[in-house]
Amino acid sequence: MVEKLNLSVLEEDRDYVLHPWRAQQDRLGIVVTGGEGVYFFDDAGTRYLDFYSGWTHLTLGYQHPRLVAAIIDQVKRIVNVNPDYVNEPAARLGHLLADVTPGDLVKSYFTTGGTDADETAIKIARAYTGRSKVISRYRSYHGNSYGAGTISGDPRRLLLEPALPNTVRALDQYCYRCPFGLAYPSCQVHCADHIGELIELEGPQNVAAVIAEPVVGSNGGMAPPPEYWPKLRQICDHYGVLLIADEVITGMGRTGKWFGVDHWGVTPDILVLAKGLTGGLMPLGATVIRRPIAEFLETRYLDAGLTYQSHPVSCATGVAAIQVLQDENLIQRAEQRGRYLEAGLRRLQAIHPTVGEVRGLGLYWTLELVRNRQTRERLVPWNAPAAECQATQEVSRRLLERHTKVSVRWNNMQIAPPLIVSEAEIDAGLEAIDYALQGADQWYTGS
Ligand SMILES: Cc1ncc(COP(=O)(O)O)c(C=O)c1O
Repeated sequence: MVEKLNLSVLEEDRDYVLHPWRAQQDRLGIVVTGGEGVYFFDDAGTRYLDFYSGWTHLTLGYQHPRLVAAIIDQVKRIVNVNPDYVNEPAARLGHLLADVTPGDLVKSYFTTGGTDADETAIKIARAYTGRSKVISRYRSYHGNSYGAGTISGDPRRLLLEPALPNTVRALDQYCYRCPFGLAYPSCQVHCADHIGELIELEGPQNVAAVIAEPVVGSNGGMAPPPEYWPKLRQICDHYGVLLIADEVITGMGRTGKWFGVDHWGVTPDILVLAKGLTGGLMPLGATVIRRPIAEFLETRYLDAGLTYQSHPVSCATGVAAIQVLQDENLIQRAEQRGRYLEAGLRRLQAIHPTVGEVRGLGLYWTLELVRNRQTRERLVPWNAPAAECQATQEVSRRLLERHTKVSVRWNNMQIAPPLIVSEAEIDAGLEAIDYALQGADQWYTGS
């Protein structure tokens, strides 16, 4: 007992804290003690470039002074209240979101993160339509609870199964590996029509909602052809099915517009937010609904509630985050910096044969890594166990050597720097990625 008092932070963490999505013996063991802008620091004073914004959520970087000030200010006023009562930051944030979201998206249900916001979207869609089935896509992630996990297609859902009934999964808009064997544009975006066909096959009278990420998240980062979302909107309208846009990653400026759906002029019936909603500093999600649904809920009992719902400190941070995005012109900047980043990534593709495809929007980019560009054989198989991932382990090792954080998940490398990133910082990130890809290239088997 006595020597336990002298444990280092690392040892205490090892003995007493569980980490997400890993066998605990595989913990990373980096003790983060500080951060500023796009950098974080460990306890040895090493500086890391965060080219993935935490888990894409730290969209305004570390310790943005205006967000920190908003948190302190709200903490001094009142930290938390009974969620039945009105609190000013939640009311203001709801109003701001109604202003910046498209169309008649008007009311927000504030949760603690994306999982419960997606789960609430499903609850509301079922209540509003009186139908129970939900159509999602295989290459998707919507959260880690049983409900949100079930509607995800991500391999992590396999661990939850047998999961909740009445979820139907669609094949994906994945032009690089079209599951229908077609090619854009002659395909006429068959992947969207496929969802219409699933609605027919399931019986439109049974389908409550279609849920999709405007740009696919951790399952490959595919940005859709421009016709895809307008087509989904038309199909859902035709069958009276609600369209849910999971904008947990793509919302709040990440793609160079306020929301991913803004690229295609589509208003979903429900728009789900989290991550960048507070610049990532405080836990908060939002399920934002259109006016007819809001009117329906005036008299229909809302069978959802959370103790930490509409948390005042989180909502005050959300208000400040929207003000920072507006005052610092960060959304337009994300679009400009995104083009700069894209140009750099395409240069890397030209010199690294393992880069099969570069795809993305704004400041959200994915490199799909292959062993052979002709056959498109993946650098490591999708959902492969660690023993089959030496090539990408080498990529990760080299990134760590350069103190740069990028997500490497099987054969996809994902890049999502904070929206405040400068061109010089993008250059530094590209240099580290260049070095990491040199490690991948030795596995290339093509000519
Ligand atoms: C698209 C998407 N939806 C939902 C979630 C779940 O959000 P959270 O981890 O805040 O519960 C995530 C998390 O990464 C996500 O990427």
